[in-house]
Amino acid sequence: MMLPILLLLLLLSPALAWIPVHDWESGNVTASVGESGQCVCHVYLPETTFPADRVQNMQQVSKDLILEVDIQMNKMVSYEGMLAVYLKEVLDLTVRVSMLESSPDNYIKLDFELLRIELREFEALVSQLRDSLNASSPMFDSLYTEIRNMTLIVNQLETFDKSNLVVIRFEFAKLQKKLEECQKEQELIKPDIGNCNHTGIMSISKPTVVQVNAHLNAGYQYGGWGKDSKPVRGYESMYFYGAYSTPSVHNFYLYSDYEKLILRSSFKQHDIPNGWKGAGNNYIVHGNTIYYQINTPFSMSKLNLTSSKYDYRVIPAASQRFSYSYSDHQNMDFAADENGLWVMYASEASRGKIVIAKIDEKSFGIEGEWNTGAFKQLAGNAFMACGVMYATRSVDLNTEEIYYAFDTKTNEEKHLNIPFQKFQEKYSNLHYNPSDQKLYMYNNGYYVSYNVRFNKE
Ligand SMILES: *[C@@H]1O[C@H](CO)[C@@H](O)[C@H](O)[C@H]1NC(C)=O
Ligand SMILES: *[C@@H]1O[C@H](CO)[C@@H](O)[C@H](O)[C@H]1NC(C)=O
Ligand SMILES: *[C@@H]1O[C@H](CO)[C@@H](O)[C@H](O)[C@H]1NC(C)=O
Ligand SMILES: *[C@@H]1O[C@H](CO)[C@@H](O)[C@H](O)[C@H]1NC(C)=O
Ligand SMILES: *[C@@H]1O[C@H](CO)[C@@H](O)[C@H](O)[C@H]1NC(C)=O
Repeated sequence: MMLPILLLLLLLSPALAWIPVHDWESGNVTASVGESGQCVCHVYLPETTFPADRVQNMQQVSKDLILEVDIQMNKMVSYEGMLAVYLKEVLDLTVRVSMLESSPDNYIKLDFELLRIELREFEALVSQLRDSLNASSPMFDSLYTEIRNMTLIVNQLETFDKSNLVVIRFEFAKLQKKLEECQKEQELIKPDIGNCNHTGIMSISKPTVVQVNAHLNAGYQYGGWGKDSKPVRGYESMYFYGAYSTPSVHNFYLYSDYEKLILRSSFKQHDIPNGWKGAGNNYIVHGNTIYYQINTPFSMSKLNLTSSKYDYRVIPAASQRFSYSYSDHQNMDFAADENGLWVMYASEASRGKIVIAKIDEKSFGIEGEWNTGAFKQLAGNAFMACGVMYATRSVDLNTEEIYYAFDTKTNEEKHLNIPFQKFQEKYSNLHYNPSDQKLYMYNNGYYVSYNVRFNKE
């Protein structure tokens, strides 16, 4: 809101300076009689040529200003990403703080100075954000509260004198306790992983992660992120991510853990070679292998992250005509649950309704198929949990709902109404992960995740 007004003022001020002075009519005409009696008239004309050079200059100035506005806008986007990184870093501070606590003799040294510098940077960022971001969205409201709380802690820490070790230790202990309580709370709600002794999904939590993508680019609307649903040894904490400005899939990034994901520090980047480029972004990682759709030939594809080898299988019945409602080319949707690996597609034979197919991991072939009653094009996305397919659709800009379920064990379908919040309207990847019973969504450039609650009766 500030920038356009600023722009207008800056554009106006040179304009004021150009107003020509039309004073020649009054005082700049003199008449006299010449030597041979003729009448001589002297007219002093002002500079009447069009001020092309000044207009040019003005155009350049306005171009520069537009560029400046662009740069500021881009900065805002990257602030959002940086904010998340800083929030994470502030959390990390508590860990370092507890380290300091355990060796109080060392705390006076460099580390505390670094802490203070980082905290000051964080404060500056917060005030920049306050000025440049729109506070009207509920997402930013809660972020603001968090920032304000963080700033409070920052201020408290900054007012502590280095010599006041007792107070610092007390504050550190409080922070530590808070962290511990958080962890306990998490453990309390930790569900029975792998247990399907329930009657399906009861509710979806509020989003538990909302974070802009690793490119810090809001234009990367199409993508996916998540964790391996059947991790190999040593990669239990790995996260994957990929995104682009179109529905085509060009690369995958791997992060060793959540912190590395947030800090955007990948340990491996797979640039997909020509011939294996993907589409639709409904990919997942299962058994250290990425399963995704390719279009030439139209088929299921996989990239084995252990061997870096690609492979594909055509599903003859699958059609490229039917996509989900939020993005193009989402013809094959991969899923993994407690029962294994699945792919969902629609066909001419199914008249656009979703078909569930079970994938045999070893042969990379289809070992079973089920016809559902959900029209693919009406669904926002779909996922599998405990052998049940759940399809989603939009309720409004910030609300999605699970509206349909199909149980592959009983061949029964159900109409449901399980709402959940989304940060932005459109999303390109939604899948369930049986290893942590969470839903992962790539929501128009943002990582979002949810806890799933099952109905245990
Ligand atoms: C006449 O024009 C000249 C040159 O543009 C200017 O410097 C001068 O002030 C003018 N004289 C009057 C009386 O306006
Ligand atoms: C900022 O908020 C105003 C008022 O709520 C809204 O009209 C506008 O679209 C918002 N701008 C952005 C960039 O979100
Ligand atoms: C911020 O602090 C207030 C008061 O201590 C507390 O009620 C609130 O839950 C905190 N909010 C966040 C997001 O931490
Ligand atoms: C499943 O849950 C029901 C009801 O809670 C219980 O009676 C039954 O023993 C459970 N079965 C298994 C295999 O855990
Ligand atoms: C991936 O490659 C490794 C090493 O070659 C192999 O052991 C594993 O079975 C492969 N996984 C899949 C799903 O193809």
